Amino acid sequence: MVGGGGREHAIGWKLHGEGAELVAAPGNPGLAQIAACRQVPVTHIEGLAELARQERVDWTFVGPEGPLAAGLVDRFRDLGLAAFGPTRAAARLEASKRFAKEVMAKAGVSTARATWHTDEPSAKAAARTLGAPVVIKATGLAAGKGVVVAGSIAEADEAIDAMLRSHIHGEAGSEILVEEFMQGEELSVFAITDGTTVLPMLPAQDHKRLLDGDQGPNTGGMGAYAPVSIGGTGLLGDAVELVFKPTLAAMRDAGTPFTGLLYAGLMLTQDGMKVVEFNCRFGDPETQALMPLLNAPLGPLLQSVARGEGLAGVAPPTWRSGAAVCTVLAAAGYPESPVTGAPIVLPPMPEGVFAFHAGTRLGNDGQLEVAGGRVLNVVGTGRNMREALARSTAAGDSVQFNGKQMRRDIGWREMARARTA
Ligand code: AMP
Ligand code: GLY
Repeated sequence: MVGGGGREHAIGWKLHGEGAELVAAPGNPGLAQIAACRQVPVTHIEGLAELARQERVDWTFVGPEGPLAAGLVDRFRDLGLAAFGPTRAAARLEASKRFAKEVMAKAGVSTARATWHTDEPSAKAAARTLGAPVVIKATGLAAGKGVVVAGSIAEADEAIDAMLRSHIHGEAGSEILVEEFMQGEELSVFAITDGTTVLPMLPAQDHKRLLDGDQGPNTGGMGAYAPVSIGGTGLLGDAVELVFKPTLAAMRDAGTPFTGLLYAGLMLTQDGMKVVEFNCRFGDPETQALMPLLNAPLGPLLQSVARGEGLAGVAPPTWRSGAAVCTVLAAAGYPESPVTGAPIVLPPMPEGVFAFHAGTRLGNDGQLEVAGGRVLNVVGTGRNMREALARSTAAGDSVQFNGKQMRRDIGWREMARARTA
């Protein structure tokens, strides 16, 4: 397993429960309870390949986008090693927003109109043509910080200057997209694919803002829940037919078939379902909410794709009834300047509640401490959203460290729907 965040701990937990023996690089203190952790950074592809050989692993799961975009899967295949995830060329669906737009245009997949620019005057002119609100995006990977939803033309100009003149995202922002603003509710649909067959997972919803009521600054994600009822029972079928299948066909036609996990960020607008973005890997923290609900074995699906055996005839995974809520416990100062080093008191979790590690480490004295912005992901499961949220929040309250930040309203849209249903 390549990675060391909450997503990797949740998937590792699932695979371990199915009897898999795990080696994680670099892993984290949570994964260390179920896996042998080796201190190879996720960016060191040769080191990871060496590790996979030494440990004689059957196959490798890759969590984050960085190593996929850098060609980990290509290199592993060259060496005869099986790895789950897209090749470098296919990972461009996430690594280049311009490439993603071009594929969607060819595939006839509905998304916001956009133009791309390398100079400020043409970008600013495009923003004026669309009018505020307007969205400015760095085309490349910018650690989730490359998107500005500008409420005014002045704000759009500022974002354009920051990316094209001040190069705040470096090379990733040397080309930018000026994009039409879409109004609607967002959700995430993940599908495991061999390039043709699509096995969708339950829809989930991320909560990006720091504070309750979706207030405050944007973050890497403060929580997630599943399943999402908006869109009804037809939603997954629509996502498969209108988004996944045509996109995968366009990728095959281009000679760069996409295998692995395709993540569609969808917006349900008045004009129907539109793609906000693609990611080439499992989402974080949605995955943490999904894994405890997954009834079927995950390992065989991932392994078939990693080995190139294909998924034809394989049924989509089955899910437990009920709901799961993941609440992120974040460090003091997150997202601006997270304070690390605070000791963590982590009590045992009750039945049906899970504490997945994200930014934790063991200090010199063996004490668990804060190592990053998003520290722990507490997932509560229950018969319904209300129960899942109550368990997740209670678990979050039971964990202690200085300056802990957490939301108490993950899934509030779903709760509101349940009230009016
Ligand atoms: P992305 O990295 O492309 O997913 O963008 C990050 C976030 O910005 C999304 O999750 C949306 O909330 C918002 N966003 C991106 N593009 C648009 C758009 N065209 N209209 C409205 N909101 C957007
Ligand atoms: N949940 C957002 C992401 O994984 O990119």
